[in-house]
Amino acid sequence: MYKPVLSRQSARLLSSKGAAGASTTHFGSKIVPTEQKSKLVGHVFSSVASKYDVMNDVMSLGIHRLWKDHFIAKLDPGMRPNSTEPMNFIDVAGGSGDIAFGILDYAKAKFGDTQSTMDVVDINPDMLREGEKRAMDQGRYYNDPRVRYMVQNGEELDKIESNSKDVYTVSFGIRNFTNIPRGLEAAHRVLKPGGIFYCLEFSKIQNPLMDVAYQQWAKALPVFGSIIANDYDSYQYLVESIERFPEQEKFKSMIQDAGFQSVGYESLSFGICAIHWGVKV
Ligand SMILES: C[S@@+](CC[C@H](N)C(=O)[O-])C[C@H]1O[C@@H](n2cnc3c(N)ncnc32)[C@H](O)[C@@H]1O
Repeated sequence: MYKPVLSRQSARLLSSKGAAGASTTHFGSKIVPTEQKSKLVGHVFSSVASKYDVMNDVMSLGIHRLWKDHFIAKLDPGMRPNSTEPMNFIDVAGGSGDIAFGILDYAKAKFGDTQSTMDVVDINPDMLREGEKRAMDQGRYYNDPRVRYMVQNGEELDKIESNSKDVYTVSFGIRNFTNIPRGLEAAHRVLKPGGIFYCLEFSKIQNPLMDVAYQQWAKALPVFGSIIANDYDSYQYLVESIERFPEQEKFKSMIQDAGFQSVGYESLSFGICAIHWGVKV
C-alpha cells in the first residue's frame, strides 16, 4: 500500500522519461510543465514534513547528521570576539531548521555570539512550520527577534534585500529548485560583497564500487519509504532528483556562472554529497 503524493490532475501532467524542452522541466525523471514543478515539489515536502527526520535517517542511514555537523564546523560561523558587527545569515530551503539552528548554536558556543541574525526561508509553509515547531519544542529560536521564518521561493527571495547577508546556506534544497541558475543568481544578489554562498547537496559518487552499492540502495529506498512513511512516490522523487543533480565539477561551474569567485567543493562520504562554496566579490 502506498499513498499517492500527486493529485490525479498533477499526475496527468507527468509524461515519461525524456529531455525537458523550453516550457517543460524535470521532476525527478519525469518531464513536467515548468510552472507545475514547484507545486509538485510542494506536494512531496508537505507529504514528508511530519516525518522529515525519519526520511533523512532512512535516506542517509543517519549520516546526514554528521554531514550537517561537518558542514557547519567547516563554515565556522559567528561574530568574532574582536568584531562589533553581528552577522546576517540566511538559510534557504531551511524548513527543518537543522542548519539555521545549528549555525546559531555553533556561533554561540564557539564565539559567544548571541547577536547575529538568521532568516529561515522555505517555499513550503508545512516544512517551515515543522522548523518553527521544533524551535518551540526545544525552547530556542522561537519568538526570537533574531530569527525570521519566511515563506519564500529560493529562486526569487523577493522579500530579502540585495547586499544584505553575510552567509547564504542551502542544505539538501537546491536540487529541488525548478531553475537552479536563478536560485544561484538570487543567492548572489542577497549576499553582501565578501559574502559566502555555502551549499550541502547530494552529488556524484566517485568510487565505482560505492556507486554500484548506492544504486542498489537507491532502488530500495522508495520501498522503505512506503513501509516506514506510507509514501512510495515522495521517496521515488527524492531518489530521482538526486540522480539528476549535476556532479561536483558541473555544479561548481554553475556557481561560477552566477558570478561567484574562489569557488570550490569538498566531497563527503565518497561523493554521496558535497559541500560547494563561492564568494561574492
Ligand atoms: C530535503 S529538505 C531540506 C531541509 C533542510 N535544509 C535540511 O537540510 O534538513 C528540502 C527543502 O527544500 C525546500 N524547497 C524546495 N524548493 C524550494 C524553493 N524553490 N525555494 C525554497 N525552498 C525550496 C522544500 O520545501 C524542503 O523544505
